[in-house]
Amino acid sequence: MILPIIAYGNPVLRKEGEEIDANYPDLKKLISDMFETMENSKGVGLAAPQVGLPIRLFIVDTSGFNEDGDQPELDDFKRVFINPIIIEESGKEWKFEEGCLSIPGIREEVSRKPNLIIEYYNENFELIEEKLDGLAARVVQHEYDHIEGVLFIDKINPLKKQLIKGKLNAIIKGEVKVNYRMKFPLIKSK
Ligand code: CO
Repeated sequence: MILPIIAYGNPVLRKEGEEIDANYPDLKKLISDMFETMENSKGVGLAAPQVGLPIRLFIVDTSGFNEDGDQPELDDFKRVFINPIIIEESGKEWKFEEGCLSIPGIREEVSRKPNLIIEYYNENFELIEEKLDGLAARVVQHEYDHIEGVLFIDKINPLKKQLIKGKLNAIIKGEVKVNYRMKFPLIKSK
């Protein structure tokens, strides 16, 4: 089932997510719905707060995004992250233009460290420690921010943030064109 994606301005995107356990109601269905929702919106990552749930869960799938063949870290990178903890971020910060399904129409450069060690439970509640680099690390860092209530626009320079203020206000009012299902703060959902 495709779920509506929560747009910028909804307070759920600002909550720190709660940890969950294997008994979380209908977890399997939720994960499968999140994958369907993400595929439908052509995203590479989706965090539970983006479908209205302030819990520590996100998914990523970058398969098929290694278009030029020079980003092998993206191949087969399809994961479910439950209760993740970032153990270490290292390396020299690098910039990359990020976007977010909850903030349609805005893309801005964000600086992040390239190397990441993260511990998490997968969909079978097996504890995993994984080392990620480059874009794979970046996708995970972006999604991890979501479960901490942080958005990529919090990390852009203040001048750029000022420049996109109008666009952000338009999103809150639903005055933005999107080709996937969204729920806007000031609009009753259909
Ligand atoms: Co996002």
